[in-house]
Amino acid sequence: MSGTEMTTSARYRRFAETDARGYSPLYDEWCTGVSDDDEVLALLDSLPPARRQPVLFLGAARFAGVPLGGYRAFRSFVVGHWEEIRHVMETRTTQTNEAGRCAVLLPSLAAISTGEGRPLALIEVGASAGACLFPDRYAYAYSPGPTLTPAAGSPVPPLACSVTGAVPLPSALPAVTWRAGIDLNPLDAGDADDVRWLEALVWPEHGFRAERLRAALGVVREDPPLLVRGDLNEQLLPLIGRAPSDAVVVVFHSAVLAYLDAEGRQRFRDTMLRLAADRDRPLHWLSHEGAGTLDGVPGALERVAGEEDGRFVLQHNGRSVARTGPHGQSIEWL
Ligand SMILES: C[S@@+](CC[C@H](N)C(=O)[O-])C[C@H]1O[C@@H](n2cnc3c(N)ncnc32)[C@H](O)[C@@H]1O
Repeated sequence: MSGTEMTTSARYRRFAETDARGYSPLYDEWCTGVSDDDEVLALLDSLPPARRQPVLFLGAARFAGVPLGGYRAFRSFVVGHWEEIRHVMETRTTQTNEAGRCAVLLPSLAAISTGEGRPLALIEVGASAGACLFPDRYAYAYSPGPTLTPAAGSPVPPLACSVTGAVPLPSALPAVTWRAGIDLNPLDAGDADDVRWLEALVWPEHGFRAERLRAALGVVREDPPLLVRGDLNEQLLPLIGRAPSDAVVVVFHSAVLAYLDAEGRQRFRDTMLRLAADRDRPLHWLSHEGAGTLDGVPGALERVAGEEDGRFVLQHNGRSVARTGPHGQSIEWL
């Protein structure tokens, strides 16, 4: 992962300033506090570098029941409950499942379905519990732009997304006839502990995201998608082979490439560019990832000027098409 070469203090400071500031005042305060707290830094440094991630620590502290107060209360809780928190950090990974990301995928998904004249067969790599596999079951409120609702309605509050530039907003939701995911550790929307972990990963001020998560997991429970356990590079081709031939396959991913090493990203990118260029079987690739994950991958993944602002980049078949809010809260068409 990018960032492992930084000190833990610098990592937490960067997280506070780049990811949390203006988005979660509490995580900003906690991570700024951690970056100056030798005792807490020493606890974190007793873990392997990949397990020192701010989001993992914050989620584990929440899972253990940390009070949502100032830094003094936070640090005294995490020091007092360190063994429990350490266990969570050693056994769980950050698997935040954010249905809101469907709002930034939807314009491309709808354009692909319209362009190919076929319904969609969705394959999400790094699917977590599968909440992003249901873009056809959610309602959307683009601003400026249309409000879109499935004919049957949606139990999930509309996904709000602010729009900049000429985003090709659809007038109707695309049909999805098949959906499947791959994950190293698929989470079970029907398992109480998995649901509690997913809730602990939602940032504390984001009550609307927690509410959305609970409702989206209800959608998943009602119609559980096929979730294959394993590495995306190993499982992708067999899974594509299982997709129905009367639908257009879209392979997509969101906040996943950061978990792969440079070689894994390169292998995946090469596979996807080859599949997307195959004229015998139309297949599309949508990548929605943080800017740093493009580093170390030479070739077709374009960099976007000014992308280091915490926003993600949306790419269609290896070409950057939009910058987005990482949880799907905004989209700026390029
Ligand atoms: C941050 S979560 C994002 C989940 C979902 N894509 C979303 O946007 O809501 C990243 C997911 O990728 C999975 N993952 C990481 N590396 C993977 C790999 N090599 N193969 C399959 N899944 C992987 C993790 O287990 C985790 O569930």
